[in-house]
Amino acid sequence: MTTKTILVTGGAGFIGSHVVRLLVNKYPDYSIINLDALTYAGNLANVADLEEESNYSFVKADITDLEAMRKIFAVYPIDTVVHLAAESHVDRSIEDPLIFVKTNLVGTATLLQAAREAWKGAHDGKLFYHVSTDEVYGSLGETGFFTEETPYDPRSPYSSSKAGSDHLVRAWHHTFDLPVVLSNCSNNYGPYQFPEKLIPLFINNIRNEKPLPVYGKGVNVRDWLYVEDHARAIDLILHEGRVGETYNIGGHNEWRNIDLIKVICRTMDEKLGRPAGSSEELITYVTDRAGHDMRYAIDASKLKEDLGWTPSLQFEEGIAKTIDWYLENEEWMRGVTSGAYKDYYDSMYKNR
Ligand code: NAD
Ligand code: DAU
Repeated sequence: MTTKTILVTGGAGFIGSHVVRLLVNKYPDYSIINLDALTYAGNLANVADLEEESNYSFVKADITDLEAMRKIFAVYPIDTVVHLAAESHVDRSIEDPLIFVKTNLVGTATLLQAAREAWKGAHDGKLFYHVSTDEVYGSLGETGFFTEETPYDPRSPYSSSKAGSDHLVRAWHHTFDLPVVLSNCSNNYGPYQFPEKLIPLFINNIRNEKPLPVYGKGVNVRDWLYVEDHARAIDLILHEGRVGETYNIGGHNEWRNIDLIKVICRTMDEKLGRPAGSSEELITYVTDRAGHDMRYAIDASKLKEDLGWTPSLQFEEGIAKTIDWYLENEEWMRGVTSGAYKDYYDSMYKNR
């Protein structure tokens, strides 16, 4: 018997695929519907292992399409939404901001509206879980951490569209009483991440002996979390989080970009049997990202104290696992880097 029907949006993307996998495997009595528009970032190969599972289904649809969202709620008895679908890459948001406004703002509002209409105020057992980012809080100096009380100060088209989507979710809660919960997470890494983001892009370039384009001086700091730890946190908040609350998720694992890149270089030299230092020779300092946020760092103590979550993986283990995965899944990388990827890469990096 199905005890819960969860609509996961963006489940063919990086984090969404890990969330869907965790839910499908951990809860055989739940029905998990993966809804994704399959943009350049969505890839059914990310969830190929789940296709035959009886508690899993996939729907191709666009969250900005209200009629399509109404139909999903009419067809399936959805009681929970885990909303991850988004445009997610900062550099793309600088090149083409409007799609970020459309997907992240209009898409989130459309989904909220469809849920509200379907649930008709009968909110018992219902939940709209919005997955967001630490970038909504802006940029830190050398010290301090983002807490759930840090005022919003987004600076890129991506982060401001995510900040706006957070506000929309809270507005549907306060105005229409929609049961919502939110989480804001730091940088994720791990298998199935599209190679536009730093870690998979650099692993792929090292393997192919291509330049490693480090923005600015490489001194910006990010707080990295293994993606399966994020998925575990989402599972916990989904089941035990308090309605109306926000939880920050992070690994307490800050790295300056250049130091992280050197770890990847050294590990790749060892794993590929190349002379020590050869990958570091590929490092090329390029023009900085416009408006590049200096530092992100999450204070995840609320999640730890209220719900008992801590990251399970040390960074050294996580990054080694991640590199192994990309080296062992060459076909996956070839699949996502064929076709439009080359044009993207040329246009993003040729003038830096
Ligand atoms: P991703 O770009 O890998 O995946 C996004 C998914 O959304 C893709 O499968 C894509 O096809 C789908 N999608 C895009 N537009 C859609 C639309 N209009 N309708 C339906 N589906 C659509 O992103 P990700 O890195 O997995 O991030 C997932 C979520 O987590 C995002 O909301 C992002 O803001 C948030 N987040 C990401 C990170 C990170 O480090 N990657 C950290 C914190 C929060
Ligand atoms: O903090 C959470 C956010 O982390 C998520 O909300 C975003 O969806 C996700 O993309 C990520 O944003 P970042 O901009 O931090 O990630 P990215 O991998 O693009 O870049 C990480 C750092 O590396 C950043 O300081 C920019 C730098 N960088 C990135 C690329 C792609 C480079 O130096 N060179 C590059 O080629």
